[in-house]
Amino acid sequence: MLKFTTTSAPEPTPAAERETILENPGFGAHFTDHMAAATWSAERGWHDDRVGALEPFTLHPASAVLHYAQEIFEGLKAYRHDDGSIWLFRPDMNAARLQRSARRLCLPELPIEDFLTSLEQLVTADAAWVPQVRTEESLYLRPFMVGTENFLGVRPSAIVDYRVIASPAQAYFTTRDRGNQPGGVRLWISDKYIRAAKGGTGTAKCGGNYGGSLAGQIEAQEHDCDQVLWTDVDGEGLEESGTMNLCVVTRDGELITPGLGTILEGVTRDSVMEIAPEHGLTVSERRITVTELAEGARSGEITEVFACGTAAVITPIAEFASERPNVRDVVVSDGVAGPKTLAIREHLLGLQLGKIDDPRGWLRRV
Ligand code: COI
Repeated sequence: MLKFTTTSAPEPTPAAERETILENPGFGAHFTDHMAAATWSAERGWHDDRVGALEPFTLHPASAVLHYAQEIFEGLKAYRHDDGSIWLFRPDMNAARLQRSARRLCLPELPIEDFLTSLEQLVTADAAWVPQVRTEESLYLRPFMVGTENFLGVRPSAIVDYRVIASPAQAYFTTRDRGNQPGGVRLWISDKYIRAAKGGTGTAKCGGNYGGSLAGQIEAQEHDCDQVLWTDVDGEGLEESGTMNLCVVTRDGELITPGLGTILEGVTRDSVMEIAPEHGLTVSERRITVTELAEGARSGEITEVFACGTAAVITPIAEFASERPNVRDVVVSDGVAGPKTLAIREHLLGLQLGKIDDPRGWLRRV
């Protein structure tokens, strides 16, 4: 088992500067003083595990990741509770998903216990960076793994580097509010781009999926939308919303979320599916089409749509736009965030921030 023993950063950020950052951290813009690291080689397996000062990578220009994108990552958060204690939310799920992504990208699997140790050691070293909660502040953790062998042939890298970096975070998206009522984001349905196809890397959390999504995101912004609503290869089946999973709520209390296959198996998605029955919803994991969505929103059969993911928790979706005649501008429930969406969001944040009981034992104390 790896230990990720800590050597404190010799020149940590001065406390006053850190406090200023924590007052308004944004998302992914500031980094803590430490990182966790380990290396894997075909001969030695995992070794050289440690937590030390955050420092730049030095890579040979022939490093595998720079050419063939052999990279995977995770995202999860550490939360400070009112009594000052620090907790992770279902980190075992991220550990297992990193292993699945590793198998798809031909990277070595990091044992679950080692993944958990790397997070706990890093969060302990950087405990002062876990923000006090005002709304939903947290310390976002970004574990990732890259192939770093210096070799231009196309085959799995024989040297792999694992790191975990951390970044204080606040709310990820801003929504389009309606007067004094909470609104949602506006999604663009692209006819040019898809995110994933059967047999591809859609279920893996690999950088290539996100690099490939940028052109769609820019197309969305050019049409005054916040994110892309990714569809399947037919352009009809709903898949994901930007970087998040998608949920649709019907008037008769069904919560529909697209089934697994080409989408990311989100930890928040799974958590929503578990708690939805407590909100009077019956969960269906099934295909739902753009046409059903547009017709359902118009007729009032679909009452709420939301996206879920680690970074933004739950984001209400208020509007859809596209170049398709039947989906030019579709507004769900007058663009106002729905009660189930808000209740599920409160429930999840309540669990994560330790405000309500955790009957499933999802929280893990650091
Ligand atoms: C998440 O919501 O967990 C994400 O993956 C978003 C991240 C890529 C910024």
